[in-house]
Amino acid sequence: MTRHEEIRESYKTLGSIGGVYDGIVTRSTPLGKLMDSLIWGLDASLAAKWLDDALAPIPTDFAGSLLEVPVGTGVLTMPVYRKLPNAEITCLDYSADMMENAKKRADALGVSNAAFVQGDVGALPFRDESFDIVLSLNGFHAFPDKEAAFRETARVLKKGGIFCGCFYIKEEFRRTDWFVKHLYVPKGFFTPPFETKASLESRLRELYTEVSVHTVQAEGIFRCRK
Ligand SMILES: C[S@@+](CC[C@H](N)C(=O)[O-])C[C@H]1O[C@@H](n2cnc3c(N)ncnc32)[C@H](O)[C@@H]1O
Repeated sequence: MTRHEEIRESYKTLGSIGGVYDGIVTRSTPLGKLMDSLIWGLDASLAAKWLDDALAPIPTDFAGSLLEVPVGTGVLTMPVYRKLPNAEITCLDYSADMMENAKKRADALGVSNAAFVQGDVGALPFRDESFDIVLSLNGFHAFPDKEAAFRETARVLKKGGIFCGCFYIKEEFRRTDWFVKHLYVPKGFFTPPFETKASLESRLRELYTEVSVHTVQAEGIFRCRK
């Protein structure tokens, strides 16, 4: 099985139990709270902070074009898109199973301005400079080909556009590093190599004119302008 296929299989299982995944990522269930606290060292306010920080670059009245990759089950972003009725949203994920949950959530919330595309971040099916914002939440620690993912997300962003989001950064919080190595990588949810804060900053500086990176425990939050 190729690395891409392994990842799709891992997220196929998660997609089929989307409610469990959503409870974990939003810490809205006892399991989610336990994992956030035990694995990520996050309490409710720190958990809210990383998400708020990652989404902060999206203006509250945004009316341009936005690509979200990977959308996963859409649990973190469909409530945001609901309040951006004039934006043109495109959601992409490699796992059709995860994205099926996102489509259902969009329908349930009345999000009618989002298109869903199954695809690979390493070969985005969009023209150069297509989007005003590219958003990526918790994706880069999962993507198998990081070089291609950084290159492609930069390619499809317009000059002056914003690339923002978050993902796991190593060497910031040792307990998370242990669980990533012994749980998330063997299960196929995360794929090494992982960035440090310094390596991420330097990689982003090669592609963008303005770069800011900070961490909340092991979550690295980035905001760049092309
Ligand atoms: C941890 S989930 C994050 C989903 C969502 N952004 C969130 O924060 O809840 C990681 C996602 O990356 C997707 N993924 C993994 N490899 C991918 C690739 N090469 N191209 C696009 N999506 C990919 C998986 O299918 C999965 O839905």
